[in-house]
Amino acid sequence: MRKQIAAANWKMNLTIQQGETLLNDVLGASIELTSNQQAIFAVPFPYLLMVKEKIAGKNNYFVAAQNCYDKKSGAYTGEVSVEMLQSIGIQYCVLGHSERREYFNESNKMLADKLNLCLQYGITPIFCCGEPLPVREQNGQNEFVKLQLEESLFHLSSEEITKIVIAYEPIWAIGTGKTATTEQAQEMHQYLRSAIADKYGKEVADSISILYGGSVKANNAVELFASPDVDGGLVGGASLNANEFIQIIKALK
Ligand code: G3H
Repeated sequence: MRKQIAAANWKMNLTIQQGETLLNDVLGASIELTSNQQAIFAVPFPYLLMVKEKIAGKNNYFVAAQNCYDKKSGAYTGEVSVEMLQSIGIQYCVLGHSERREYFNESNKMLADKLNLCLQYGITPIFCCGEPLPVREQNGQNEFVKLQLEESLFHLSSEEITKIVIAYEPIWAIGTGKTATTEQAQEMHQYLRSAIADKYGKEVADSISILYGGSVKANNAVELFASPDVDGGLVGGASLNANEFIQIIKALK
């Protein structure tokens, strides 16, 4: 069975003290994850080690970076390399979040480079894709996300692509309180899986976890995650509230 994942994305929120309290509360719920369930915390760079220490010894809890740079090393003041993340034991990295694409001009090509580096250093990318509202209104979402996959992922070998996690995040549903309906989410996840199957075969496509992101909350997670092609969520706002995120973890299949 595919991994079912509840990933918190704190974005640029919380002080380290607030983050620690939030984490204590979530971990304090002592949720026993099954071997195919994972809870991941994507936190700001300065908090990675704190989270790593807190989750040490807890099965199936992980920490993720929210970004990395697309060059190996060098004179890039202020950037963080994949090798640096690897050297402190980080196992996941969110790539291509729509906020990075929009505010930091991250292109599909740049994301392909970041993805290659992550795989090279043994870090699992959580690759985000998703369409803006005008594209959805024109019913062009399938072509839009397919191009994102083609330009960032489809150069990978079958073996490599099985090492990534995909997050579908319709931009119009992020932080807006406007969730995609369960049908819309399932329809797109099924489409993404079929696009991967066309390129790599059904077995590969069936092994890749595809998370839904966009206003996932405690009160819609059970229904969203119950869809056959939705393998959990990438959660922004609701992951900043311990009780909400605890319920979201518990909603995993
Ligand atoms: O990474 C998470 C997504 O951007 C969703 O954010 O749950 O606040 O809508 P949200």
